[in-house]
Amino acid sequence: MCGIVGFTGAQSAAPILLEGLKKLEYRGYDSAGIAVMDGDTIQISKVTGRIANLCEKTGDGTKIKGSTGIGHTRWATHGAPTEENAHPHLSNDGKFAIVHNGIIENYISLREELIQDGYFFESETDTEVIVHLIEMYYNGNVREALIKATNRLRGSYALGVICTDEPGKIFAVRESSPLIVGVGVGENFFASDVTALVAYTRNAIYMDDGEYAELSKDSVKIFDCTGREVRKEVTRITWDVQAAEKGGYEHFMLKEIMEQPAAIKATIAPRIKDGKVVFDELDLTAADLKKIRKIVITACGSAYYAGCSGKYTIEGLCHIPVEVELASELRYRNPLIDAHTLLIVISQSGETADTIAAMKECKERGAKALAIVNVVGSTIAKLADYTVYTWAGPEIAVATTKGYTTQLAVLYMLSMLFADQLGRIDETDYKKRIRALQAMPRHIQQAIDMNPGIPRLAKKYHSSKSLFFIGRNTDYAAALEGALKMKEISYLHAEAYAAGELKHGTIALIEDHQPVIALCCNPAIMEKTLSNIVEVKARGAEVLALSFRDNQKVLSAADDFLFIPDEDALFASAIEIIPLQLLAYYVAKENGCDIDKPKNLAKSVTVE
Ligand code: F6R
Repeated sequence: MCGIVGFTGAQSAAPILLEGLKKLEYRGYDSAGIAVMDGDTIQISKVTGRIANLCEKTGDGTKIKGSTGIGHTRWATHGAPTEENAHPHLSNDGKFAIVHNGIIENYISLREELIQDGYFFESETDTEVIVHLIEMYYNGNVREALIKATNRLRGSYALGVICTDEPGKIFAVRESSPLIVGVGVGENFFASDVTALVAYTRNAIYMDDGEYAELSKDSVKIFDCTGREVRKEVTRITWDVQAAEKGGYEHFMLKEIMEQPAAIKATIAPRIKDGKVVFDELDLTAADLKKIRKIVITACGSAYYAGCSGKYTIEGLCHIPVEVELASELRYRNPLIDAHTLLIVISQSGETADTIAAMKECKERGAKALAIVNVVGSTIAKLADYTVYTWAGPEIAVATTKGYTTQLAVLYMLSMLFADQLGRIDETDYKKRIRALQAMPRHIQQAIDMNPGIPRLAKKYHSSKSLFFIGRNTDYAAALEGALKMKEISYLHAEAYAAGELKHGTIALIEDHQPVIALCCNPAIMEKTLSNIVEVKARGAEVLALSFRDNQKVLSAADDFLFIPDEDALFASAIEIIPLQLLAYYVAKENGCDIDKPKNLAKSVTVE
């Protein structure tokens, strides 16, 4: 996720901005830049790669004069990680420089409008439209121009702005993206999070959506979206710096679990326009889709399990046969794949060696590859014929959480798009499922809030020898990922079984107090899973059921419960996994495991 900082005071700005950016490095980034104002000149310095490169380029900031400035770490979304796309961006007249954290959903239409009005663009970013809008609306009053420009934006933004007509001033705006003002003595700051501020001040103002900040070295003024000044409380920061880097969470994994409502929103919201799923980046016509005889999904680990869930949704909505295959298997066999196959490749990192090899193998046989990837400009993104990004932001914990759920969100939206283009979904069903997609961020938040008892359940189950996860259909797909989360971070043996398979062998392992985690969130098949719960209970199992809060049958059959809100069954895996991620997290914590860096595992598996 990008990070922004701003400084105004009596000291030289560049070294302070660089120190602030270093504190934001943990958020993940692929380029960085600063803009510093000296009198009425703005000097910009940008690099790709690490902040260390920016320090080198600017002599640790000593080569850049001026005591007012803004800085940015960029995690590429719109456009590759290049110097041109790195922030700050300048207005055409050179008066304004801006940095931006967030995504502008309507940037394409704004860009077209601005180009028609004669503005020229130097980057591929969504951000650049903002600085040209500010220039367009500027009439001598920066605050007014900011209000007018941001009124045109749809999406999320924390903006930092400097203007050559206002030496010594920094401006900031917040909408759905964190922004904190740091109040110092004879100097003031803003930043995406407090980590960048605590070395200089512990007095912070947490800005709310729709608020504007105007800072000079001796004054801090906050305005609402009508331009009226608002009084804000100054909060004393008492966190230690290390905790702040994880946003106050003990582990990145927990932070990333909690980020899922926002990550899912960032992935879904820009792709639903006027009640329709629209992928601007996807040039797949109805005629192309009609030629597809089957879809093959390939990936590794959790991304493969996302594919297992996607199979139910794509087949359910589009009536196209889907095969899901582990990339490490697919690459070494003679797959029956040709030009009538659409290959869907799923990867958070975009660098997984087996997935890349399987993709090349299938492309050689004539299949077109559609990649669902999180890291912009990664190998898989570049190799694909079509690339759809999951806008989860950087994932730092080795065990994926928001990477996986955003992959599901993209698969669900692709299913809707294909079904619609092929005329295989009726209008009422389509509208109902669009509402379900839009409700997903809220439902994920509810799934977090509905399960305060998970730490207590973790104390009960953490010392078990093994855990069985059971479910059918979409519940089975979620069970596979739930079991993987448990084993990789808590080191407990955990295995997922299609509940109907129990009788064919596994039930021999059920004995007194054997924990069985039963997923019952698919109404079409719930009665069958209930019978399996009864069978394992009759053999002494301890059942932890995952279902809806009002599901009386499950409530009366199981010993313990995890809850999710009512959800469209075809989209339910993305919600079901939330309490299972939390359970794995708290079990691992009970077991004293290194949660963010489990033993023997790497975040990006670039070797076979
Ligand atoms: C599990 C996990 C791994 C990855 C797998 C594929 O929590 O993170 O199983 O899902 O290594 O990685 P990507 O998605 O980067 O291709």
